[in-house]
Amino acid sequence: MEDPESRFSVCLVRCPFATISKGERCLEALAGKHAMRSRCRLDRSRKLKPDEGLDWRVFVTARIAAVTGAGSGIGRAAALALSGAGYSLALMGRRAKPLSETAALADRKDILTIPLDVADSAAVASAFRRISLEFGRLDVLFNNAGIGTPPVTIDMLSVDDWNRCVATNLTGSFLCARQAFRLMKCQDPQGGRIINNGSISAHVPRPFTVPYSTTKHAITGLTRSLGLDGRPYDIACSQIDIGNAGTQLTAGFQEGVVQPSGNVMAEPVFDVERCGDAIAYIANLPLDTNIPFLTIMASQMPYLGRG
Ligand SMILES: NC(=O)c1ccc[n+]([C@@H]2O[C@H](COP(=O)([O-])OP(=O)(O)OC[C@H]3O[C@@H](n4cnc5c(N)ncnc54)[C@H](OP(=O)(O)O)[C@@H]3O)[C@@H](O)[C@H]2O)c1
Repeated sequence: MEDPESRFSVCLVRCPFATISKGERCLEALAGKHAMRSRCRLDRSRKLKPDEGLDWRVFVTARIAAVTGAGSGIGRAAALALSGAGYSLALMGRRAKPLSETAALADRKDILTIPLDVADSAAVASAFRRISLEFGRLDVLFNNAGIGTPPVTIDMLSVDDWNRCVATNLTGSFLCARQAFRLMKCQDPQGGRIINNGSISAHVPRPFTVPYSTTKHAITGLTRSLGLDGRPYDIACSQIDIGNAGTQLTAGFQEGVVQPSGNVMAEPVFDVERCGDAIAYIANLPLDTNIPFLTIMASQMPYLGRG
């Protein structure tokens, strides 16, 4: 187990979202607030001038991670593992209460809970602006929020169900990655890591999952494109493809899941904490190293060997 303190780093903060015009006092107040929240130390040796505008500086002593869908399942497990590894956190999801519960479990002061719908572009922009103002930078985004749809063939699928799934799983991941990329590109030191939550369904579908499987295949394109476009800015992108972690989404799998043959078969699930460990492992890699794709699954689930 690594010492969480070793995750702390000293860095210069540049805030691309702050539109500060009230001069030094405002900058200092903002930086001081940030310092208190995320246990950073304000660099008082350097005098800030009013005209420095967007370029206020503090020394940050913790790394910052944002997690979507952080109120339950894999998102909560990731948040707790990242917290254990010393990260300050921004937790996002639609419902405030589960986010607060995750924050309480993490039991640290430097956690923002931001209730939002990841499909709402303005809400996502405002959340990342808040992350920038409160923490000064972002080191890791775990793009995790996701939903399924009723198990039907495409002819029976409503357009609303399709749109909801695309909006959450794909557009939501795009919107959060877009804001994270913007922040990581501008901050100093530049760079960061975006981890997308794919699925075994990013490789092969389960029966009756057209929207879910389509969006998860599309996430693979997002991961590859961000990994490529992020290179000049030290932004790494990886994808975790999970099979049968024990969460709300897989509740009932041990009773039975429809197979391609039409039979219903019980499937094993594994402890969701292992997903959190994997996310923290990827997050903690230095930015010159990446795991583009990591598959983690219940050893005995039907995937390898065509069933
Ligand atoms: N469990 C598995 O074996 C497995 C396998 C492959 C992939 N995955 C993926 O893992 C991710 C998490 O799933 P899970 O298994 O942990 O299930 P889960 O417990 O249902 O988690 C989904 C999370 O996403 C949040 N969410 C849903 N819609 C949202 C929206 N529009 N805006 C913001 N947050 C939203 C939910 O919180 P609110 O309802 O409060 O918004 C919830 O916390 C999903 O992307 C899923 O596809 C899971």
